[in-house]
Amino acid sequence: MKALVVGSGGREHALAWGISRSPNLSKLFIAPGNGGTDRLGENVSIPADDVTALLEFAGKESVDLTVIGPEAPLVEGVVDRFREAGRACFGPAQAAARLEGSKVFAKMFMKRHGIPTADFEVFDNADAACAYVREKGAPLVIKADGLAAGKGVFVAESVQDAESAIDEIMVRKAFGESGRTLLIEERLVGREVSVHAICSVERAVMFPPAQDHKRVYDGDKGPNTGGMGAYAPVPFVTATQHEEIFESIIMKTLKGMRRDGTPYTGVLYAGLMMTDSGPKVLEFNVRFGDPETQVLLPMLDGDLLDLLTEAAEGRIPKDVRFYGDRCAATVVMASDGYPGLYEKGAVISGLADTLDDNRVVFHAGTVLDGDKVITSGGRVLAVTAWGPSLSEAIGHAYEGVDRIRFDGAFYRKDIGRKVL
Ligand code: AMP
Ligand code: GLY
Repeated sequence: MKALVVGSGGREHALAWGISRSPNLSKLFIAPGNGGTDRLGENVSIPADDVTALLEFAGKESVDLTVIGPEAPLVEGVVDRFREAGRACFGPAQAAARLEGSKVFAKMFMKRHGIPTADFEVFDNADAACAYVREKGAPLVIKADGLAAGKGVFVAESVQDAESAIDEIMVRKAFGESGRTLLIEERLVGREVSVHAICSVERAVMFPPAQDHKRVYDGDKGPNTGGMGAYAPVPFVTATQHEEIFESIIMKTLKGMRRDGTPYTGVLYAGLMMTDSGPKVLEFNVRFGDPETQVLLPMLDGDLLDLLTEAAEGRIPKDVRFYGDRCAATVVMASDGYPGLYEKGAVISGLADTLDDNRVVFHAGTVLDGDKVITSGGRVLAVTAWGPSLSEAIGHAYEGVDRIRFDGAFYRKDIGRKVL
């Protein structure tokens, strides 16, 4: 089989790595890929959001399965375009991708189908939103409706913070059209967990829960990032809670999507808050998490290419298994300044002697320059390791981090520490 992975981050390197292990793979393309994916297949210089060029390429190369990494092409309808052309593409159709594309859509959907989530109100007028905030009082969470590259959410501790978030989203239009409508939510308290399920209309298989580390500095300090590290499974999610998440969130979502005439196929990634009154959905994503994917794929005891192909074709193999005795951890190495401004072009050394049977380095912001690997992004690498316990996985990942050098490198030193 020929496969095409679309995107250029650590998530896409992990997807390419998983797919490249399949005995059924004959050729792998990554568009546009990065300095790491280049070793697993052929990087093709097509941007992830150029749907027309991707479709043309898949046709020319007779690609059997295309796997979309980032949300933007999904929300733009890439899967519909591939399906119309008779090509298999793993991901939700445009109508179903609204679960991530519009937070208001997702909240209304959850309310309609009784899926547990924070109470909320919707506003398309800043004065009315501010009046509501003054009446309710803090804390509250203010969210721009549309895609905002992870920056459109404000957890406001005071009425004044809430009003300035409304001003930023709606009056100063910091997120453009994504802020025409906003949500004001009750603030949930608890521990956050990322849940991923491979879905195919009626069926789903759920990965072990993972935990991301969103803030840039140790101790969950500093601004939010795309994610600075992750581990799986999450020890504080019990087997009963796991079952509850599967039934009351994943399966209920699939059923609701079918009822609404927008059946869901692809990966469903629910960001959850484990509250005193049970797991509640913070948000839905219609793509794999980054860096969650880097820890979830090493947990899969099976053929990723087969799994994604079957799901894209409407089937899910019944015997999907995860390594029950394996834990995985990933530590993101970033460029100094991220998530703000940072330098590019630093030479990375030590990559080769970091690899072993239980450790792999997924590249994110890297490019090749001759035989050198150089930095080209904020999140540069995700050093990933696994072992029989979380502490061994985490220790092995950090041992890998210690071997890698580039100017301006920084990373969190406390990935997973809270649960050790
Ligand atoms: P979202 O993009 O909606 O997941 O929000 C980003 C982050 O904001 C989440 O990972 C949470 O840390 C926080 N957050 C979002 N909604 C809420 C909420 N209702 N209560 C508390 N924290 C929230
Ligand atoms: N790690 C968070 C995300 O992928 O959205």
